Amino acid sequence: MTQPNNSLTVTDNRTGTTYEVPIEDGTVRATAFRQMKVDESDFGLMTYDPAFMNTASCRSAITYLDGDNGVLEYRGYPIETLAEHSTYLEVAYLLVHGDLPNSAQLDEWTHQITIHTFVHENIKAFMQGFRYDAHPMGMLLASVGALSTFYPDATQIEDPHSRHIQTIRLIAKMPTLAAFAFRHCLGQPYNYPDNDLQYPGNFLGMLYKMTELKYEPDPRIERALDILFILHADHEQNCSTTAVRSVGSSQVDPYSAVAAGVGALYGPLHGGANEAVLRMLQRIGSREEVPAFIAGVKAGNERLMGFGHRVYKNYDPRARIIKSACDDVFEVTGTSPLLNIATELEKIALEDEYFVSRKLYPNVDFYSGLIYEALGMPMEMFPVMFAIPRTSGWIAQWLEMVSDPEQKISRPRQIYTGERGRSYVPLDQR
Ligand code: CMC
Repeated sequence: MTQPNNSLTVTDNRTGTTYEVPIEDGTVRATAFRQMKVDESDFGLMTYDPAFMNTASCRSAITYLDGDNGVLEYRGYPIETLAEHSTYLEVAYLLVHGDLPNSAQLDEWTHQITIHTFVHENIKAFMQGFRYDAHPMGMLLASVGALSTFYPDATQIEDPHSRHIQTIRLIAKMPTLAAFAFRHCLGQPYNYPDNDLQYPGNFLGMLYKMTELKYEPDPRIERALDILFILHADHEQNCSTTAVRSVGSSQVDPYSAVAAGVGALYGPLHGGANEAVLRMLQRIGSREEVPAFIAGVKAGNERLMGFGHRVYKNYDPRARIIKSACDDVFEVTGTSPLLNIATELEKIALEDEYFVSRKLYPNVDFYSGLIYEALGMPMEMFPVMFAIPRTSGWIAQWLEMVSDPEQKISRPRQIYTGERGRSYVPLDQR
């Protein structure tokens, strides 16, 4: 119920007319402004918000984010608690179903995901068709989209059973596609899933198994990877989730919608940032070069990758957890010289007025690339490592969207700035 004073009184000075616009949940409906017209033929007032800087596009009960205070919660549970006590598959269940599973539910969920890890042999053949130097993220994008052709039942998005089975398939098969893409880059035979292993251990096995009969993941590496997966699982209405929701709003199958998410995540300002961070650290080369590099950033020559966030204006809580996961991984793999450069960069940037006044803090990608590098991954794999766990977030958001009666096909308005009614000049007279 709208309170009597919970509204906005707007006077349109073009006409002198005053309107009452209800405020609900701290927002006003953009469509409420359409009644504000100069005359009957007027289309009505629109709101203009490039990049959705101040526009909510949905109601969501999945992820809570308070950027000013550095708070991130999945379904009400703080990210720190989940990273400490849960596994990624438990978190995926939480995101999709809304509550943590009991042990029978978790066993069934884990079993279902485990038995769906294999992909059709033709998917393997499809991936083998890529060039030897294909970017693994491009391969992932194409192959997850191609899954829609293997599961025609996925078009039945109205059917809860179909939605459930596609959810399981997507979470289960994403690591398999990612690992096939990795092995393709190396020119090595693809490894099939090993269903005796846990979700992260199975992924590590598909990446790294060579001639040994049984791959045995190092439990410290497996746990660090699982924590990274938890941290990357969802992040409310970010660029790729918006892409999934927007494409999914056309009622296409979820594989096609997730392919759109992978495409959005590929970009260097989003999931490609961890790759960009590592390239930046390599280019800087040594601790001594850090001040000169920072001076270049402040002069506007380039950005300090892995810093800044559209929503966080405080330390990204995920960055803090990743930093300690870094220590665990380096204990196994030995430290990286790039870690010294990263630590120095962070120290200088956190004290520098340029970064402080703009509230630029390390984000999740500042340290994740260092871990992936320590695990022996080429930089091209970094955004792929983000896409695997984000799949559970994408699918949870997609499930929420298709069940939301308020949602319709995404279709923003525009302010037309071009010419009108031009006279056509035939080609030979131009
Ligand atoms: N280095 C230097 N200056 C920066 C940076 C940076 N990384 N980020 C923002 N700024 C400056 C920017 O130049 C601007 O300064 P001014 O007001 O003087 O023009 C001010 O800070 C505000 O920047 P903005 O571009 O308006 O901020 P935004 O909200 O549009 O951009 C961002 C957010 C993440 C795209 C941006 O901070 C950035 O490019 N960061 C580097 C890339 C990166 O690390 N991306 C990963 C994001 S976290 C993973 C994910 O969720 O996808």
